[in-house]
Amino acid sequence: MKVVFYSIRPYEQQVLAPLCEPNWEATFYFEHLDLNTVQRAEGAEVVSLFVSDLADEAVLKRLKAGGTRLLALRSAGYDYVDLEAARALGIQVVRVPAYSPHAVADHTLGLLLTLVRRIHLAHDRVHAGNFCLQGLMGFDLHNKVAGVIGLGKIGRLVAQRLRAFGCEVLGYDPYADAVEGVELVSLEALLARSDIVSLNCPLTSETHHLLNATRLEQLKQGAVIVNTGRGGLIDTQALVSALDAGRVGGAALDVYEHERGLYFEDHSEVGVRDALLAQLLARANVVITGHQAFLTQEAVRNIATTTVDSIRRFTQGEALEKAVVLA
Ligand code: NAI
Repeated sequence: MKVVFYSIRPYEQQVLAPLCEPNWEATFYFEHLDLNTVQRAEGAEVVSLFVSDLADEAVLKRLKAGGTRLLALRSAGYDYVDLEAARALGIQVVRVPAYSPHAVADHTLGLLLTLVRRIHLAHDRVHAGNFCLQGLMGFDLHNKVAGVIGLGKIGRLVAQRLRAFGCEVLGYDPYADAVEGVELVSLEALLARSDIVSLNCPLTSETHHLLNATRLEQLKQGAVIVNTGRGGLIDTQALVSALDAGRVGGAALDVYEHERGLYFEDHSEVGVRDALLAQLLARANVVITGHQAFLTQEAVRNIATTTVDSIRRFTQGEALEKAVVLA
């Protein structure tokens, strides 16, 4: 049986390859899946993807024609797969629902602390031999109001960590039950009251540009935003305007609206050809990481074991874990 893995990096292949069954003809591609690379999956019953891939309707039709029956996503988020088209084509889709929500929650707090304590600026200064503190003034997290949007596995852990730092935590999630220590409020109230806003919901048609120009206007003056959810949750152009206007005090972003084709690759020789991202990178009050919140030893190991387990069950005709099935 042929199994094709797209968007594989060495740190992942190292863990995945030894777990694959000897009778799988497993191939690992560095390239992302799109219409230009889909022919590599010809004859593969199972295709495994990551967030940098794109499985839209056109790609899925080509996969189906090539014999693909299972898409195994090595991620929790699934906004890069057209699930309706997959269902219509009879391609089963599985994901890794929770490989390490702690990894993402830790990174969320890491980004927040970096931003509000200016650690990114201090790091550069110290390495240049400049120990001057002017411009490095931060603020305490203690007694600040933090709003968490999306109280799922990750959002709850972010809320827990924020409480440990002494924040008053507000939450907005139209589908979640009460969370201990979190005051559930409307989105408008959360934006108006929070000094810190953390985005931890999935990207759906409902949450696309959840923070648009109007909502950014509703933010408390000078509030900071942390986004480890998905880039499309924020209208990035509107964020740049809100930063320019001083309405938003800073942003710490692990994900970026237009990251496809840019993130997960080295562009250092040619430079970043993205004017919007360049505007963000030029600002001292913006901290950016390249979609690495998930990247811990524990998470990579869990991604690999869950993915391989799903593929094994599928190919042996065993029932799949309910939580992993998307379509
Ligand atoms: P989850 O499914 O456990 O929780 C998501 C929560 O968002 C749910 O409680 C849901 O009710 C809520 N939600 C849905 N629509 C909403 C809306 N309109 N407004 C507010 N809340 C809404 O998912 P989990 O594991 O907590 O992950 C959340 C997201 O984090 C993923 O969908 C993914 O996009 C992102 N993620 C990012 C990673 C990274 O490396 N940066 C790694 C893993 C996940």
